[in-house]
Amino acid sequence: MRKKLIAGNWKMNKAPSETADLINSIKPVANGAKCEVVVCPTFVCLDAACEAAADSDIAVGAQNMYFEDKGAYTGEISANMLLDLGVTYVIIGHSERRQYFGETDEGVNKKTIKALEKGLIPIVCVGEVLQEREAGVTFDIIRNQVKKAFKDISAKAATNVVIAYEPVWAIGTGKTATNEQAEEVCADIRATISGLYDEDTANAVIIQYGGSVNAANAKELLHMPNIDGALVGGASLKADDFSVIIKAV
Ligand code: PGA
Repeated sequence: MRKKLIAGNWKMNKAPSETADLINSIKPVANGAKCEVVVCPTFVCLDAACEAAADSDIAVGAQNMYFEDKGAYTGEISANMLLDLGVTYVIIGHSERRQYFGETDEGVNKKTIKALEKGLIPIVCVGEVLQEREAGVTFDIIRNQVKKAFKDISAKAATNVVIAYEPVWAIGTGKTATNEQAEEVCADIRATISGLYDEDTANAVIIQYGGSVNAANAKELLHMPNIDGALVGGASLKADDFSVIIKAV
């Protein structure tokens, strides 16, 4: 049985001084929950987040990292720095990073390899834009992103990767994919992983859906057979909504 994983991507929201409050208000539901709960605040909030979450079942994730260990890379953050704070997850290749910050499939692969090597759990984001969905090439786009993300990763290591299927047209738009649309792509991602490795590996990989997941639609999405959790943006900033999503598992 795959465990379910609910992760909150706070994006560029909340200051360090606001971090503990939000974490404290989701603790009652996160502690003892039937799923793993992760919050992913900005880099400057990670220290406060790790401290606030220390005595709870909430894990902390970063929203990005660099694939080099150290050196002259102004503005970048290494896996070791994240581990030093107590961070255990890292989002890699979010569509906003791909769209606005030039993140490539090759960079996503390098970061995923580094995260795995260091023992961080990568949440690798894939997703098609609206034109691609309308052109009927969604499966090709996602298969290609998945194959490139898993390049040079062993089957054993691959089971530690979390994939988040996030159709770009559904992110922050309030326009969620239907349960069927989300399920068919997540099932296809699992089939792609099975093709790259084998069925056991594919069955072990956690595949989340993300894109306008909220308190009202979470339950149905989370009960689709190939959807093992959610990567939640906007609704993860509201403790009440995020708590409902955790409880929906
Ligand atoms: P959203 O964001 O829930 O606000 O659509 C999801 C994401 O970008 O991970």
